[in-house]
Amino acid sequence: MRRLRKENLRALFRESRLRTEELVVPIFINETAKEKKEISSMPGYYRIPIHEVAKEISECMDLGLKAFIFFGIPKKKDEIGSEAFNDDGVVQKAVRLAKKEFPDAVIITDVCLCEYTTHGHCGVVKNGRILNDETLPILGKIAVSHAKAGADIVAPSGMMDGMVKAIRVALDGEGFSDVAIMSYAAKFASNFYSPFREAAESGYKFGDRKTYQMDFHNSNEALREIELDINEGADIVMVKPALAYLDVIQRAREKFLVPLAAYNVSGEYAMVKSAIERGWLSKDAIYEILVAIKRAGADLIITYHAKEVAEHL
Ligand code: PBG
Repeated sequence: MRRLRKENLRALFRESRLRTEELVVPIFINETAKEKKEISSMPGYYRIPIHEVAKEISECMDLGLKAFIFFGIPKKKDEIGSEAFNDDGVVQKAVRLAKKEFPDAVIITDVCLCEYTTHGHCGVVKNGRILNDETLPILGKIAVSHAKAGADIVAPSGMMDGMVKAIRVALDGEGFSDVAIMSYAAKFASNFYSPFREAAESGYKFGDRKTYQMDFHNSNEALREIELDINEGADIVMVKPALAYLDVIQRAREKFLVPLAAYNVSGEYAMVKSAIERGWLSKDAIYEILVAIKRAGADLIITYHAKEVAEHL
């Protein structure tokens, strides 16, 4: 076996490759901030004000990164997250700005309530319960409002049953049949999201997300989630998190032919970055992790490491 591992031959037999074009850069946009601010649990990652979005995209485009997913931190929150579908809300403003300056960039928007509700849950709450069907029309309104602003792809992340269909119907009804849906189809109730909740101010005030996000003991169920979302009209399906869920990515890849995204989440980023900062890991570990996600079968990877890896590539 060592014959083909010689230094000059190795690259010829490489089975998986990571390409800059298949990375998606998450961008946290803070409506009230005047300047960018580092997220303490995500060393080297920032929340940026709206007026710095263009600069950020331009830096990424120079590195060959063309796809972005926007998360908004709104100026105000309420019970039903109405800022999320405000046509002049933080994400809508940022999308308009980004599309005007960079029409070739791919702008994906996270469609969820948690950053916009006072209770921090991804659905409408009544008597301490997170309601499913009452949430769906709101998700439709958010998606339409993002589409109006110019989003190419909307990405519902709240794990409400029927969310993909509700959004598809809402988009088509408003003339946005060409806007694609990337569904967070198999999103697990994971311990790896904590830094994101600091970044997006989306922590919940009571309970947990286990009645809507998946139980991490299960993978058959993940395939059922994905199948349902494909049948409801998802153009791209996602597994999230990525690293502790490579088996799920692999099973999804084997079973389905739709484009498959993997979300290398905030906690995965924080673990590796803090070890690298201490000198306990080489920064090449980042590349190895992303290649592993590709090797498992993902087509796209959403990752906070996008810029550093693009530089490396
Ligand atoms: C919102 C959302 C979350 C993430 C993406 N969209 C957080 C959550 O479900 O609490 C997590 C991303 C990350 O940890 O990097 N529903």
